[in-house]
Amino acid sequence: MANHEEQFKKLIAHTKEYGFIFPSSEIYDGLAAVYDYAPCGIELKKNIREYWWKSMVQMRENIVGVDSGIFMHPTIWKASGHVDAFNDPLIDNRDSKKRYRADVLIEEYIAKIEDKINKEVEKAAKRFGDAFNREQFVTTNPRVLEYGNKIKKISARMAHDLTVNDLTDLKKLIEELEIADPVSGTRNWTDIRQFNLMFATQIGSVSDEANTVYLRPETAQGIFVNFLNVQKTSRMKIPFGIAQTGKAFRNEIVARQFIFRMREFEQMEMQFFVAPGTELQWFEYWKEQRMKWHLSLGIPAEKYRFHDHEKLAHYANAATDIEYEFLFGFKELEGIHSRTDFDLSRHQEFSGKKIQYFDIERNESYVPYVVETSIGLDRMCLAVMSYAYNEETLPDGSERTVMKIPPVLAPYKVAVLPLVKKDGMPEKAREILSTLQKCYMCQYDEKDTIGRRYRRQDAIGTPFCVTVDTQTLQDNTVTVRLRDDMTQVRIAIAELNAFVAERLQ
Ligand code: GAP
Repeated sequence: MANHEEQFKKLIAHTKEYGFIFPSSEIYDGLAAVYDYAPCGIELKKNIREYWWKSMVQMRENIVGVDSGIFMHPTIWKASGHVDAFNDPLIDNRDSKKRYRADVLIEEYIAKIEDKINKEVEKAAKRFGDAFNREQFVTTNPRVLEYGNKIKKISARMAHDLTVNDLTDLKKLIEELEIADPVSGTRNWTDIRQFNLMFATQIGSVSDEANTVYLRPETAQGIFVNFLNVQKTSRMKIPFGIAQTGKAFRNEIVARQFIFRMREFEQMEMQFFVAPGTELQWFEYWKEQRMKWHLSLGIPAEKYRFHDHEKLAHYANAATDIEYEFLFGFKELEGIHSRTDFDLSRHQEFSGKKIQYFDIERNESYVPYVVETSIGLDRMCLAVMSYAYNEETLPDGSERTVMKIPPVLAPYKVAVLPLVKKDGMPEKAREILSTLQKCYMCQYDEKDTIGRRYRRQDAIGTPFCVTVDTQTLQDNTVTVRLRDDMTQVRIAIAELNAFVAERLQ
């Protein structure tokens, strides 16, 4: 773990040094849990958003998009349940004066037990070598079983306490597990209380309660309240979906882990409207589709896992998280929820407007059921950057830091580099640049040795470096150096565009 913490610190430093992520308002000493995307970061973020939109909207006949306002009618948040129940259970340590989410403290405790299980598995794998059967080991080893049971018991009790809002028992659980404050090391805890996460502000010039509006804590409600408008204007038939990407705001009290948990972040959400009774089939469908999307980026399958919810929100009849193994362990990256007809019914009730769909095949009207997929764009950026960050020792003993970002997501696709800054090479390189720039984000660099320039491109994850040399001036060919294995191929300038396009597919 110490090694992972070290790696995480290095990653954060790297993303700042190479222009991916900056702390917000840095010259004023920053603003906690808010970050700015730098030139490489915005390209990465934009590419992930486009990759999602392409798969969720462009390549599907039955999903369309919206871009709703961040401010919405305040009653929307009453109807959705956010005003009354969008809370975190908070607990303070009296000695360190630090505030924590009670559920997170318990989850961290569970993660430590999971670490112990992993260590047992590693030890056994070493001991038994090729004959090791993981499945058999974890289902029969008494110590692993004991750890597993302990996790189950703790999770079930926490889920129950959160569901019935039994904060006294939740505190008791923390005490029984002897969870200590990581800062002070003491167990001098206050009682747990609920804290609403929405940011409120005033609209217009008069500041009274009637003018209170909220910064949306999720983009989903902007989809629900536009359901009828979109269905009618786009002539959509159930089953169909509405997608939206955009900012969401939560007054996260425990905001740590870089861009994993921010107060201002971006979501990519899709609500899929289905006939009542078919939602669980669609839930399975979207689970599979979303996992396929993640795996299509070439990130190994073992970095992902599903985590089915034990504690279902009162409006959901199935829910799972796609978790990614960040440098601080497996954590939620995306949520897939079967939200029943809760949201649309509540908006029908609170607005007094009928929100129904007439199903020609069933010859009946109903409030559609909804299956939601919701992924945090910033978390996805963090997942990609964590996977991509590599420190390598090369065969000649030198070191390089390379961001092995999936090429389709890389901020810059091509760097064009004249071998030397004379003999007409810069002019030729700029000619190539101006052609490629029409299709791709490119960089031009003529400063320093070619080796150093390659390293700079490795550090920001550019998959292709095109070098113009003496031979280029004679026969219009260039070398293309590939980021991941550093091999080089010589190709005609005329083939460059197709070469890059093929590898970005
Ligand atoms: N509409 C459903 C919804 O908002 P959620 O699980 O609260 O569900 C969905 O959020 C996703 O949004 C999460 O899986 C996560 O990726 C992202 N997310 C939530 N809170 C976040 C935060 N404070 N900072 C960054 N991303 C966050």
